Amino acid sequence: MIYAGILAGGTGTRMGISNMPKQFLELGKKPILIHTIEKFLLEPEIERIVVGVHEDWVSHAEDLVEQYVSAFADRIIITPGGVDRNTTIENIINRINEYKPLTDEDIIVTHDSVRPFITLRIIKDNIRLAKESDAVDTVVEAVDTIVESTNGEYISSIPNRAHYYQGQTPQSFKCLDFLNLYNSLDKEEKQILTDACKIFVIKGKKVALAKGEYSNIKITTVTDLKIAKSMIEDE
Ligand code: CTP
Repeated sequence: MIYAGILAGGTGTRMGISNMPKQFLELGKKPILIHTIEKFLLEPEIERIVVGVHEDWVSHAEDLVEQYVSAFADRIIITPGGVDRNTTIENIINRINEYKPLTDEDIIVTHDSVRPFITLRIIKDNIRLAKESDAVDTVVEAVDTIVESTNGEYISSIPNRAHYYQGQTPQSFKCLDFLNLYNSLDKEEKQILTDACKIFVIKGKKVALAKGEYSNIKITTVTDLKIAKSMIEDE
């Protein structure tokens, strides 16, 4: 089975809005989270869309599903997220296991709830590549020159830009592979390895690149929200 895991367990501190996590803010006529869920509803191969939400916001998220996508509510499961991104993924996978016991073939396409401009093409590429590789990371070619500085004062190197990409989401892999690798990490490693694909890379797994889009932005700051509002008018 293919599952979508929507990561919505954060509180959006960099957005600087205190009363509501950014994934619930309105973009056009509906909340950012709903835009994101709607993109995954377009892919028939996805068995269930499991959304990991901060525990204080579970009932709010359930209300939004009723209000905006009630016709598809049976394809959507809301579950409490975790203290960090990977714990949210872990909680989502455990919830999938409650829904239907996991098999070795079950794949999860994990996606930031605050990237509402994901396309169906990116979702389909992730599913295809996740069947062929150990994991998939969605990336775009780096557009700016990458400058490395290890002390924050002087440049230590300027690597060849052609070898550098910027990571987006989705990140996709087998549910059980993630649980096994994540549980093999000690407490300190779990704190350092906040990126799910980095865990696969460090453990020597093959992580395929899926082509992202520059429009697949992550809404992190108020400026991003303004950009997203202008983009939604074009959709
Ligand atoms: N996320 C999550 N569980 C967490 C932390 C983050 O599911 N414990 C999700 C966020 O909800 C978001 C995505 O991961 O959709 C990308 O993270 P980021 O943009 O950093 O979101 P926040 O952690 O909410 O933002 P900030 O770092 O500004 O607090």
